[in-house]
Amino acid sequence: MFDYFRIAGPLVRLLEAETAHGLTIRLLKSGMVPRQPAFDPPALAMHLWGRDFPNPVGLAAGFDKNAEVPDAMLGQGFGFVEIGSVTPRPQPGNPKPRMFRLPEDGAVINRMGFNNEGMEAVAQRLAARRRAGIVGANLGKNKDTEDAASDYEKGAARLAPLSDYMVINVSSPNTPGLRALQGRDQLEALVGRTRAALDAAVSQSPPPLLLKIAPDLAWEDLADIAAVALAGGLDGLIVSNTTVARPETLRSANAKETGGLSGAPLFESSTAMLRRVYELTGGKLPIIGVGGVASGSEAYVKIRAGASLVQLYSAMVYEGPALITRIKHELVDLLTRDGFTSITQAVGYDHREPKP
Ligand SMILES: Cc1cc2nc3c(=O)[nH]c(=O)nc-3n(C[C@H](O)[C@H](O)[C@H](O)COP(=O)(O)O)c2cc1C
Repeated sequence: MFDYFRIAGPLVRLLEAETAHGLTIRLLKSGMVPRQPAFDPPALAMHLWGRDFPNPVGLAAGFDKNAEVPDAMLGQGFGFVEIGSVTPRPQPGNPKPRMFRLPEDGAVINRMGFNNEGMEAVAQRLAARRRAGIVGANLGKNKDTEDAASDYEKGAARLAPLSDYMVINVSSPNTPGLRALQGRDQLEALVGRTRAALDAAVSQSPPPLLLKIAPDLAWEDLADIAAVALAGGLDGLIVSNTTVARPETLRSANAKETGGLSGAPLFESSTAMLRRVYELTGGKLPIIGVGGVASGSEAYVKIRAGASLVQLYSAMVYEGPALITRIKHELVDLLTRDGFTSITQAVGYDHREPKP
């Protein structure tokens, strides 16, 4: 298959990062980007929350904030797409520039600040699409909303009927006060209220509700989150969002920009956290592993550490969408190497057996 990104990619990367992203969305919307040939062998299928994922590799939130191109991205080979973060009202986000490439580090820093068109515009787009393929909605809060939980209630009520899963995002570093919602008391109330809104909106088999957490939480906080998650109300966790940490190894000129760091330098810490969350929840709650996945072997490490599904965003900035099919081929090879016939057998395997 011709990889048009080999030619278009270097040209797109000459543009400022957010301009390049806007152009990419426009190209995807225009239908000019060819679909990837389908590659979803049975070994990669994952059945979760009553849904059939054709493969475990998803598009992370933030790429398609306004649900403009979920089907085009499913056509690039993703097993599922997460749109958002969406807030109840439209908001402009932070001043530009607010997205930075760190090419020497295979990383990105962003301080977008939940720029999005608001839940009504997103709901109308989701309602207009033919319901095929798994599309989840990631909820955020407006910057100026005092009662944070009320924004998640609104988002859940409006988008639950149109989404295959819902995410409470309390882990973006670019909305003041947002990450404080990860504390135990606040979180219990937030999850309870969002759950109630979701169940009221869709009484017959409501979509599963997930919580997306930050990689900068202390180990003690993780125990609280696991306790809230296991107490009911949540169906899964997403580990993790971007980090405010700046590893000393970063070499790129943009390394000192304020915001959340994603991509390769996030892989180790987000995977360590995923491993710990799997232990704390005893493998009872499905986890989506995200942070620095750029190859099949990194996806596989997350799966063996406890992820039922994985997501990525930053690696696509550098490698283009052909990366998705590459990752899937590599995953099949790794499963075969280790004697697994299905990805489901590999989920959390590191916790059961010594490494081969
Ligand atoms: C430009 C940009 C915007 C993002 N926006 C969001 C967002 O709106 N909501 C969210 O939950 N995560 C957002 N993320 C975080 C990603 O979903 C993901 O958790 C993170 O980038 C780590 O994955 P990666 O290393 O594969 O990029 C954003 C990431 C980037 C790079």
